[in-house]
Amino acid sequence: MSEPEQPSVTISDPLDDAMEIDKSDSTAPEVLPDIKEIEDGVHSMELGTKGKAKEVVPVEEPEKEEDNEENKKRHLNVVFIGHVDAGKSTTGGQILFLSGQVDDRTIQKYEKEAKDKSRESWYMAYIMDTNEEERAKGKTVEVGRAHFETDSTRFTILDAPGHKSYVPNMISGASQADIGVLVISARKGEFETGYEKGGQTREHVLLAKTLGVSKLVVVINKMDDPTVNWAKSRYDEIESKMTPFLKTSGYNVKKDVQFLPISGLMGFNIKDRLDKKTCDWYDGPCLFEALDKIEVPLRDPKGPVRMPIMDKYKDMGTVVMGKMECGTIKKGDSLLVMPNKANVKVLSIYCDENEVRQAGPAENVRVKLSGIEEEDVLSGFVLSSISNPVSAVSEFHAQLQILELLDNAIFTAGYNAVLHIHSVVEECEIVELIEEIDTKRKKDDPKKKKAKRKPLFVKNGAVVVCCVQVNNLICIENFSDFPQLGRFTLRTEGKTVAVGKVVKLPPPGSATF
Ligand code: GTP
Ligand code: MG
Repeated sequence: MSEPEQPSVTISDPLDDAMEIDKSDSTAPEVLPDIKEIEDGVHSMELGTKGKAKEVVPVEEPEKEEDNEENKKRHLNVVFIGHVDAGKSTTGGQILFLSGQVDDRTIQKYEKEAKDKSRESWYMAYIMDTNEEERAKGKTVEVGRAHFETDSTRFTILDAPGHKSYVPNMISGASQADIGVLVISARKGEFETGYEKGGQTREHVLLAKTLGVSKLVVVINKMDDPTVNWAKSRYDEIESKMTPFLKTSGYNVKKDVQFLPISGLMGFNIKDRLDKKTCDWYDGPCLFEALDKIEVPLRDPKGPVRMPIMDKYKDMGTVVMGKMECGTIKKGDSLLVMPNKANVKVLSIYCDENEVRQAGPAENVRVKLSGIEEEDVLSGFVLSSISNPVSAVSEFHAQLQILELLDNAIFTAGYNAVLHIHSVVEECEIVELIEEIDTKRKKDDPKKKKAKRKPLFVKNGAVVVCCVQVNNLICIENFSDFPQLGRFTLRTEGKTVAVGKVVKLPPPGSATF
């Protein structure tokens, strides 16, 4: 069975505050993201419009009648991110092995295959890296997708590539994820290369935060390596260097981030806690426990239906694909496809390959609809409830953080870019700069209440509220109401120039102010 293609940008975490640039929260980092770091981090990258994912170990899904049983466990998507060769695929493979999905014989086969390719230590990564190119080069290209369960949760692992050429695939993986496992190699020199300019550690963190990954487990991997040998000093060094960076990237390190030492290759501190003989100073949870306990703000299953459509096809009716961002759909429901206000009926719903009676928030689904022709649906349209449909507008106000303008251009009214917001990709124009936000002011500075004058232009690093126009109606929401439908990137010539959030929409029912 072919795996449905995934959306390039769907944002997954409702209460995520990635774009909260307001620093009034005392737990927020003191400084704004260091723009230089963002510039260094967000490289020239092509945002794939359709990132592909490969299903790694097909799971035997429960029978249909177990729907209810199955639904008792929450479902979370976890993306594995980090610099090339940090050990993402090895750790992902080890998770599948330790959760009993890969048998010893298969491991032996991979050991032999890896040896034949002179890549002995890569055998665990072969569980996730299934295609020939990946195995030959030892580099993940397509996001690998696999499943495992802990006591409380069904997890889908998305194993992203670390190599900078495949950042678009990483974006597509991260945009589907609720939580991230940031894999960092502790091996001498490897942490440094991943962390420095041009390394993907920081770029991935910034992208993950922007794309809605609200919680991070930072695994400090390769602790078994002879250059590390489970040394606490190395672990502490990496943790202390990562912490300020994570803060400036918008993560609340105390609440949203936890660090763990692991060895993906040896399988240590993954399913079971470390034994004292291996490491006598670490007393915390293993990876499974950490993932099991992570609380992500739940999307509202009773809220209005919001399912951005990322793809569609004909199959004895019109089938749309996407991720449920809010609400629940059931077989037989009447819904609206926006912005064309088409009344549709849900004929059937599929999660993975299985037909289900209903689907709630965070599920990736395919929905067969009656009442609309396939050619009348476009990706970027949103399936929504009739009583509370998504806003369809051609104009909105946004708070933008300018990352890196091409050739240090200035950002002014008339600036054109491509807007990427959930599964929407549209040309847009900045028609007015409304207010520049002074990011350096102190929290209690009385000057902050001073009325702002409208800026004529802003430069790299600025945070600015502006009015954005598009030619076609797009379905978006205020970030404060539906973060997944209110957070976006602006790109020009394949580079991300700004990240932003929607702060104001035209009055209900109108497309413009
Ligand atoms: P990309 O997909 O290319 O970004 O790399 P990756 O992060 O998936 O790394 P991968 O799992 O392919 O591992 C890269 C190399 O690091 C392989 O040689 C692994 O054997 C090695 N490695 C991974 N985890 C560990 C570990 O815990 N200890 C040691 N010693 N080596 C490891
Ligand atoms: Mg890999």
